[in-house]
Amino acid sequence: MRATWALAAGDADRTARVFYSNLFRLDPTTKPLFVGDLDLQGRKLTQTLSYIVDHLEDADSLMPSAVELARRHVGYGVVADQYASVGAALIQTFKQLLGPAFTDADEKAWRDTYQALSDAMVAAAYPA
Ligand code: HEM
Repeated sequence: MRATWALAAGDADRTARVFYSNLFRLDPTTKPLFVGDLDLQGRKLTQTLSYIVDHLEDADSLMPSAVELARRHVGYGVVADQYASVGAALIQTFKQLLGPAFTDADEKAWRDTYQALSDAMVAAAYPA
């Protein structure tokens, strides 16, 4: 899993371009939330992916920071439904950039991890 994203992050600007164009097409409500330039967005995406991969490797210690991360996202204007859009845009981006190197097992690992993390973030930040 770390290998798949390291490959995609090798060219962080291109990865960011593909990711944000996928995201804004899948869910146009996300577009106004991102105000920085491409460099900034590329760094942000790399941070996000690192966070997800680290979470896979050490879920227990990262959970408290996930709660704080989720609360900061409320401040960025993020709403709960947008978590599914980001997950879908991420998978689509890996498929486009990595082709067959992104295996079914890689896809399952990303989906499972993203789902667990975003469920925890949504539960923490948007109490029913
Ligand atoms: C598992 C899901 C996610 C992870 C791990 C994640 C991670 C991050 C990280 C590490 C940052 C850097 C700033 C900080 O630490 O507070 C950030 C910023 C940000 N995230 Fe997320 N994020 C996730 C989901 C989302 C979703 C669903 C949206 C909505 C479209 C979103 C929109 C933003 C925005 C707007 C920023 C502010 C920085 C900027 O303007 O580029 N994120 N995220």
